[in-house]
Amino acid sequence: MGGGLAGLRAAIAAVESNGEITVGLVSKLYPLRSHSVAAEGGTSAVLDPEDNFDLHSYDTIKGSDYLADQDAVEEFVKLVPEQIYTTDHWGCPWSRAEDGRISQRDFGGLSFPRAVFAADKTGFHVMQTLYSRCLMYDRIHFYNEYFATSISVDSNRFNAMTTINLRTGEYTIFQSKSLILAAGGGGRMYRFSTCAHSTTGDGDAIAYRAGIPLKDMEFVQFHPTGLVPSGILITEAARAEGGYLRNSEGKRFMEHYAPTKLEEAPRDIVSRAMMWEIEAGRGVRGGYGNIEYINLDLTHIADKLEERLPMITDIARKFNNIDAAEGPIPVRPATHYTMGGVSVGIGTETVVPGVFGAGENASISIHGANRLGSNSTNECLALGNVAGKKAAEFASSHGIPDLNHDKIREEEKRLWEDIMRRDGGENVAAIRSDLGHTMDVNVGVFKTGEKLESAIKTIYELKERYSRISIQDKSNVFNTELQWALEVGYMLDLAEIVAKGAFERKESRGAHYRKDFPKRDDDNFLKHTIATYTRDGPRLEYSPVRITKWQPAERVY
Ligand code: FUM
Repeated sequence: MGGGLAGLRAAIAAVESNGEITVGLVSKLYPLRSHSVAAEGGTSAVLDPEDNFDLHSYDTIKGSDYLADQDAVEEFVKLVPEQIYTTDHWGCPWSRAEDGRISQRDFGGLSFPRAVFAADKTGFHVMQTLYSRCLMYDRIHFYNEYFATSISVDSNRFNAMTTINLRTGEYTIFQSKSLILAAGGGGRMYRFSTCAHSTTGDGDAIAYRAGIPLKDMEFVQFHPTGLVPSGILITEAARAEGGYLRNSEGKRFMEHYAPTKLEEAPRDIVSRAMMWEIEAGRGVRGGYGNIEYINLDLTHIADKLEERLPMITDIARKFNNIDAAEGPIPVRPATHYTMGGVSVGIGTETVVPGVFGAGENASISIHGANRLGSNSTNECLALGNVAGKKAAEFASSHGIPDLNHDKIREEEKRLWEDIMRRDGGENVAAIRSDLGHTMDVNVGVFKTGEKLESAIKTIYELKERYSRISIQDKSNVFNTELQWALEVGYMLDLAEIVAKGAFERKESRGAHYRKDFPKRDDDNFLKHTIATYTRDGPRLEYSPVRITKWQPAERVY
């Protein structure tokens, strides 16, 4: 499920690891429209002899505020370099140094310039590469624009995925021996976001409803530089290449928050610094209504824009009529990534045999409380590859389980009778807008118990309204209103888990910052949150963090 980086990489791995395997790649979008194409700045890999795996692991673990499972991180970093060379051989146009070697740049929280990149269009180029590779195999069947509505799990075996063929409106059932969840994250439960509007957490919510637990969902990442007012990503590479953040007084301020790394501190720290500046009355105003923002100044690195940062230069020009060589770009923190996801082990396996998870859809957990920039596309490649091989292995030794016809009919009834046929109910767009508003205001960069309680109350009210929604558009062909309605349902479930997990976590760690509990509390909260579906909402339990070499320490940059 999912046609982004992790899904495509997994599909290739499955067919290349076993000559008999056939893959159905089910995606609600055409793969090249998936959000992965929007990845910009780079993907970390240990390629330089002066770098090493321990350093990549340490940076990742420190960046995670010590919530990452260290054995998973150590395993992961070793898998990445091969993926860079493999995609290089498949034709990915990685940016190169004068001597022909693959270039690497700095990124937030790295202690070595480790991010491999293709200008600032990394996701776009890797997606093109993987998609072309997929097209070589007639054993990979693309089911584009099929929207997944549920998965059916019985006797601890996955037996079917129910979907709507968006082009025809037909209810379509997919059966397979194994399943890989690779449908991305749920950043769009917020309004101000770098995520595509399709990033609605479908894979997380569908798995959760089927009884597969989600891990660490309260850790939602805010990227410091979402373009104002659209939220479009302005890559962290802009700061890695030397860009400055300036407040309304025209001053750089990062020395007060991260004296060594400055603008290249991890994104949780930079996002908070920007919000502290804005709260202290030093946000910039003007040009965008009431929105206060921070200026990203690239004018002193104008000579690098064309080669290293062409896409954000173009975005600033087209969306804001700003020439980045001449003036600053208005930015503020925007939701970017969900560190949490379907809980998986190091082999990408979920609690249901035959169901695997990869990419942002899954939490393995290597990102813990805060993912380092440049540790996402590499995860899609490395763990997509693992998931593809594991799913193929499982499929080659298992049959297709029987369909649970009752469940399939029950889902059909939910879709066509409960949702489509109802008239005069609540408007889905209004619910989506109210959800985004409460998440932005109450579950943002700075949280408090009071704000989270308010968010939880609002989410309950929205869920109640949601139970009475009706769809005005009764047609079958590309019924985007129905699709939106189902996506809003997914996001309401996920928002409830995020807000409740954040309320219960009475400490500050990584991207989760509680003004009422501003310190990290390892005695009570060095643990993962595990959310399991019940009819009355998520049941929250906790599991230990696996530590290998790096004892939790104060995180200074
Ligand atoms: O800023 C960026 O280019 C984002 C990178 C990432 O999320 O890994």
